[in-house]
Amino acid sequence: MRVTILSLFPEMFNGIFTESILKRAIQKDILKVDVVNFRDFSTDKHRHVDDYAFGGGPGMLLSVEPIVKALESIEGFDSAWKVLLTPQGIPFNQNTAKQYANKEHIILICGHYEGFDDRIRYFIDEEISIGDYVLTGGEIAAMAIVDSVVRLLPDALGKKESFENDSFYEGALEYPQYTRPQEFMGYKVPDVLLSGNHQEIEKWRKEQAEKRTMERRPDLLVKSDKKD
Ligand code: 6GU
Repeated sequence: MRVTILSLFPEMFNGIFTESILKRAIQKDILKVDVVNFRDFSTDKHRHVDDYAFGGGPGMLLSVEPIVKALESIEGFDSAWKVLLTPQGIPFNQNTAKQYANKEHIILICGHYEGFDDRIRYFIDEEISIGDYVLTGGEIAAMAIVDSVVRLLPDALGKKESFENDSFYEGALEYPQYTRPQEFMGYKVPDVLLSGNHQEIEKWRKEQAEKRTMERRPDLLVKSDKKD
């Protein structure tokens, strides 16, 4: 899979692609990442990419031209899935991650300042937000999206890191898990997990996953009835 990120702060991505699973995915040729600084496509001698809003108001807007020029410079941009990252987008979730994992090439556009000239919306396929809070820019959102998508690609995770249990019962939260020691400061591992009775263990895990989901995220149970 190819991921191209348009950002004014390419160096923010230095850490994420040189560690752990994303690093390995790149080494294994499962993932190819390019970070493009759209300031390089400024049409202005001072390399500006933002300007005042028509009609007035505080703050600066990202101009449409440098971003579209940067998009057009990307090989195969026409067939890539182009995503604008803003707090006004559709909320990103695990289903979106699964859809993106099936795409050959996604382009993530990271904004800053007060937002984009609205005409950028004629040049993209989808506008995405990662949650109901405001970040200073789209970079952290891009990192979250790439991370969640790449781990779904075939062979990106090793055996030890399988994602099969991510949502054990469609849309539910995970059941509680324990490792050694069997007792820590008086807190014990539930007996059933030490029983060796796999049927009982499975039943317990299913119940616990449901209980947790009901207590913490009842909205997920409603959604999981619908499936996708
Ligand atoms: Cl994608 N961008 C920004 N700036 N803030 C956000 C966001 C994106 N998603 C949630 N908050």
